[in-house]
Amino acid sequence: MPHQLLKGKKGIIFGALDERSIAWKTALAAVAEGAEITLSNAPIALRMGKINELAKQCNAEVIAADATVDADLDALMAKAMEIHGGKIDFILHSIGMSPNVRKNISYTASNHENFLKTLDISALSLHRVLQSAMKADALNEWGSVVALSYIAAQRTFPGYNDMADAKAVLESIARSFGYHYGFAKKVRVNTISQSPTITTAGSGVAGFDAFFDYAEKMSPLGNASAEECANFCIMLFSDYTRRVTMQNLFHDGGFSFTGVSSQIIEQMMTKEQ
Ligand SMILES: NC(=O)c1ccc[n+]([C@@H]2O[C@H](COP(=O)([O-])OP(=O)(O)OC[C@H]3O[C@@H](n4cnc5c(N)ncnc54)[C@H](O)[C@@H]3O)[C@@H](O)[C@H]2O)c1
Repeated sequence: MPHQLLKGKKGIIFGALDERSIAWKTALAAVAEGAEITLSNAPIALRMGKINELAKQCNAEVIAADATVDADLDALMAKAMEIHGGKIDFILHSIGMSPNVRKNISYTASNHENFLKTLDISALSLHRVLQSAMKADALNEWGSVVALSYIAAQRTFPGYNDMADAKAVLESIARSFGYHYGFAKKVRVNTISQSPTITTAGSGVAGFDAFFDYAEKMSPLGNASAEECANFCIMLFSDYTRRVTMQNLFHDGGFSFTGVSSQIIEQMMTKEQ
């Protein structure tokens, strides 16, 4: 139930591809909470996805930007400030893609050109977005930037491939840039480490369905949904989390701190019989 937590706030939401996208749900939640938003995605995603449907629902403009191209991001910041009549308050970075995962190339056989693209699209893009926002002085004091991560940054999940390395870099960029942006402009930078979620990016990972069920059984509160992730993003954009920065916050029903659950043990014992 909306509480107008973002009343008067303005923001940019990257990465809404279709109605399953975490960014899609966050865009709807932000508007329901009283925010004005601008939507952005890569030019190819604008052609293939359904972002215009979302834009209508959110009364938002859509601006194409490849998050690996600084000039696109600079133009986006300028345009967003023009649309919103000044500085903005929040940014969601909900961007990820690995050509190695897409092409089913295993981690040990990684193509290194692909690997560099994974890092650029899924991690360095956060640095590019933050740098562009800082250069344009696009964020108000106490602004908030959130990027989405996954626990493969800390622990090995073999099917996650080079995205694991990208997430480790992403979380590190949030800490490093968060330090500088905090001192310079009181801007918060955090990552949310989300449960496996059925989306285009999520289901591209090998064995995703089995892994989704495993995580569900391993999490005391069950897997967190995309809608719940959107709500957590809203909280981090709101004034209720003003002193939270440089953190990687697990939003995973307790998965990250569970060694093993009795459901998994029972499943293993049934198999043994
Ligand atoms: N789905 C999961 O299981 C899960 C779990 C944890 C974290 N995440 C993370 O959540 C974020 C959003 O993913 P999602 O699950 O909603 O899937 P999604 O496929 O809906 O979103 C990924 C988005 O990245 C965009 N993108 C790719 N290359 C880009 C580029 N060069 N420039 C700009 N945008 C580009 C895509 O167009 C797409 O909109 C990603 O960072 C993902 O790694 C997802």
